[in-house]
Amino acid sequence: MRALVTGGAGFIGSTLVDALVANGAQVSVVDDLSRGQRAQVAEAADFHQLDVVDERLVALVASIAPEVVFHEAAQIDVRRSVAEPVFDTRVNVLGTVNVLEACVRAGVRRVVFASSGGALYGDTDVLPTPETHPSRPASAYGAAKLAGEAYGSVFQQVGGLEFVALRYANVYGPRQDPHGEAGVVAIFAERLLRGEDAVINGDGEQTRDYVYVDDVVAANLRAAETPTLGAYNIGTGRTCDVNQLYALMAQTAGVDRPARHGPAKPGEQRVSCLDASLATDRLGWQPRVVLEEGLSRTVAWFAEQRRAQ
Ligand SMILES: NC(=O)c1ccc[n+]([C@@H]2O[C@H](COP(=O)([O-])OP(=O)(O)OC[C@H]3O[C@@H](n4cnc5c(N)ncnc54)[C@H](O)[C@@H]3O)[C@@H](O)[C@H]2O)c1
Repeated sequence: MRALVTGGAGFIGSTLVDALVANGAQVSVVDDLSRGQRAQVAEAADFHQLDVVDERLVALVASIAPEVVFHEAAQIDVRRSVAEPVFDTRVNVLGTVNVLEACVRAGVRRVVFASSGGALYGDTDVLPTPETHPSRPASAYGAAKLAGEAYGSVFQQVGGLEFVALRYANVYGPRQDPHGEAGVVAIFAERLLRGEDAVINGDGEQTRDYVYVDDVVAANLRAAETPTLGAYNIGTGRTCDVNQLYALMAQTAGVDRPARHGPAKPGEQRVSCLDASLATDRLGWQPRVVLEEGLSRTVAWFAEQRRAQ
């Protein structure tokens, strides 16, 4: 398969590139390196440094002529999306439309879009949340994911593109950036290994559904190959609150140090947990890596990075 991964220098994208290369695919990457790292991109992949909003994307995708495009590139900081909604919309809506347009013009068969379960549904009483639940995004980031799915469906009807949206839960694992606002697992791992205080926002009872990056990559591979279209939750159906998460990680890292509690972040979602039974039925996907195992792999990776520095 000839595949293109946008955002392929980032956390999930670069892990997906590795899996595609390992499966024998011919892989190209488009990433503007605003957050991703060139060194994370597998050597076997072609790399193109370009903003997904750039009009040159159309000619580039045509020259690559991929069969499948995995659209992972995005501005991923929810708080930044609230503070700078126009910037978020430029990258996450206009960028997605530009990718879809380029795909139609290049005759791409299928686009697999990185959507977001938590940000799309917003706070909900229905847990785990199924795909049929109304979408009530509470951030420009969530609204952009909803718009991306809507545009995908339009390009499917009008442009003949096959479109699959994967609504990820909270993804964690090696290569996640510990310096941004997203990625509490990466932030805790870094703090614990440095012997610094980790800060839990508010009471720490906010819950999330943590899904390991390799499982998310497996869902992308299934979504590229399985004839079914539509939107699928990619989560574990299990929740963990931030206090429990910190305790588990401290235990894994062998650190006996309590976290500090800081002020709650206004507007932060309280609960999020996804029902992924549709992905199991239609994509034949289910998560394989339990939280304890995933956290242990992640902490080990961050420890190895520190040793290598
Ligand atoms: N990590 C999660 O928990 C999570 C949850 C739900 C959805 N997602 C989605 O998954 C995708 C990948 O997220 P990630 O966690 O790997 O983030 P990431 O920041 O590590 O990866 C995003 C990549 O996109 C690139 N990028 C950003 N703006 C770009 C632009 N204008 N043009 C080209 N490249 C650009 C960045 O340089 C980076 O390499 C995103 O679409 C994100 O919204 C992630």
